[in-house]
Amino acid sequence: MKVRLDRWLSMLGVCSRSEGKDLIRRGAVRVNGQAVLDPGAAVETERDTLAVREQPVDGRVIRHVMLHKPAGLLTAARDRKQPTVMDLLPPVYGSIGCMPVGRLDKDTTGLLILTCDGEMNHRLLAPGRHVDKVYTARVAGRLSEKEQRAFAAGIVLSDFTAEPAELEILTAGEDYSTGRVTVKEGKFHQIKRMFAATGHEVLTLHRSRFGPIGLPADLAEGCWRELSGTELQSLRKAAGME
Ligand code: URA
Repeated sequence: MKVRLDRWLSMLGVCSRSEGKDLIRRGAVRVNGQAVLDPGAAVETERDTLAVREQPVDGRVIRHVMLHKPAGLLTAARDRKQPTVMDLLPPVYGSIGCMPVGRLDKDTTGLLILTCDGEMNHRLLAPGRHVDKVYTARVAGRLSEKEQRAFAAGIVLSDFTAEPAELEILTAGEDYSTGRVTVKEGKFHQIKRMFAATGHEVLTLHRSRFGPIGLPADLAEGCWRELSGTELQSLRKAAGME
C-alpha cells in the first residue's frame, strides 16, 4: 500500500501523526536504511523497510491471522466494557485495522480468522458465497437420525430458514451427545438455534474449520499466528478473489 511516511508511522501505532512528523524531521526514521526527512515522502508499506530510532519496525499493514479463540472473549474489534479477541494480539493488529471475519459467540471456542483486507472479509461473509464452517457441539440429550434429517432438510427458525446442513453424530448418550455440523451460512447464534429447534440445548460449541482453513492441532487456545502464503491464497480463492 502506498502511503505518506508520517501516516505509515501512525497506522502502525508507532506514534501520532504529529509526533511522527517531528521524529522524521529530526532524522530518527529510516526507510530502506536511509534517513528520510520529509513526512510526506511516499512509501510502499509491504515492500519498504522501516527503522525508528535505529530499531527495526515490521511495517506491513496488510496482515491476516488465525486465532484459537478461548471462551469468555467477545468477537469484536473493541468493546468499552468487556475483553475482546483483539486483546490476544499485539496492539499493532488493531492499529492497522485487523478485523474478525464473522463472529463467534462469547462462549464459543475455536478458529477465528482476522484480516486487514476489508474486501476479502466482506466477500467471505457474503450470503451467496457458501463458505463451509465446521463446528463440534456438545448438546443435551440424545442425537439421532431424526436430527440429522432435520438438519439436512433445512430448519425453519423464527426469522429465516437455515439452509440444509450436515450433522454427523460423534457420540450419542442418554444425557449428552456430540455432533459435528457443517453449515454454509453464518447467522447470529445459528448453530445454537438449529439445535434448539430440534430440542437440544448446546452446552459447548467449538469451530474447527472456516472454509479451506482448519484449526491446527498445535495452535493452543488463546494462541494465534499469521496465515501462511498458501493459506491466504486458499482463503482468497474461497472469497472469489483469484
Ligand atoms: N453458531 C452459534 O450459535 N454460535 C457461534 O458462536 C457460531 C455459530
